[in-house]
Amino acid sequence: MEKENKIIFYTKLLSSIENKRDVKIFDNENFEETKKEIEKMRVAGRLASEVLDIVTPFIEPGISTGELNDICHNHMVKKQNSIPATLGYRGYPKSICTSVNQVICHGIPNNKKILKNGDILNIDVTVIKDGWFGDTSRMFFVGTPAPHAQRLVEVTQECLIKGIEAVGPDAYLGDIGSVIQTHAEQNYYSVVREYCGHGIGSNFHEEPQVLHYGIKGTGAQLKEGMTFTIEPMLNAGKSATKLKSDGWTVETKDGRLSAQWEHTIVVTENGSEILTK
Ligand code: MF3
Ligand code: CO
Ligand code: CO
Repeated sequence: MEKENKIIFYTKLLSSIENKRDVKIFDNENFEETKKEIEKMRVAGRLASEVLDIVTPFIEPGISTGELNDICHNHMVKKQNSIPATLGYRGYPKSICTSVNQVICHGIPNNKKILKNGDILNIDVTVIKDGWFGDTSRMFFVGTPAPHAQRLVEVTQECLIKGIEAVGPDAYLGDIGSVIQTHAEQNYYSVVREYCGHGIGSNFHEEPQVLHYGIKGTGAQLKEGMTFTIEPMLNAGKSATKLKSDGWTVETKDGRLSAQWEHTIVVTENGSEILTK
């Protein structure tokens, strides 16, 4: 299988399958329409977050990632009347991603993958509601984590928070990457380079690419109304990744732990708002 990193993957998407976001969101003349779109994203974002809330009590040693998928899928389809965005997305077979321990992202739920005490797990949920997308992921501890695993998970969450705090109408994309990279490396972790955050709206993946490393004051300038994800992936060891032969599962090359947290946000007049609260 040809190795394909997510940046290339998203660039391909932007130029072919998925449409670029309609620029009207940045146009003051359409402010009222923009507000309605943001409200729809708020709804989708809340639903994605709710899926993570409802699956949380089931995350215990002995449950399979396939069962967690089914719980989330049923909640989306039967309770929320929302669409699991990943199901059938470019051939992806499941309704959530479940990434355990050394898996960085895009782990495929499986009834044979039984969680055990001490595992760290990322669940990534994207819902479509009324044509708009909400994308969020959290880390979970299965039973009791080892202190080093807990620390990786906590520092990764701090990176997401710092990245969000760097967002505002005068900020640059590079500001986000810079604060994340700095905090990760101060804690002796590495930042995954090949996979990134992304614009999101009425498409799953849009411009811009939101890198989790970079230099302050560089890259595109943020504007009020822009909607995108921040989803840092930190590795306990080296940043190198490898794609498994299933074509989806991304792991650390050195086999050491990886963690990720994700929110969908909108740039506001004086900062940002988390849409996946
Ligand atoms: N939710 C992931 C993201 O944060 C994308 C998953 S695509 C899948 O962008 F096909 F792997 F599910
Ligand atoms: Co995302
Ligand atoms: Co996601």
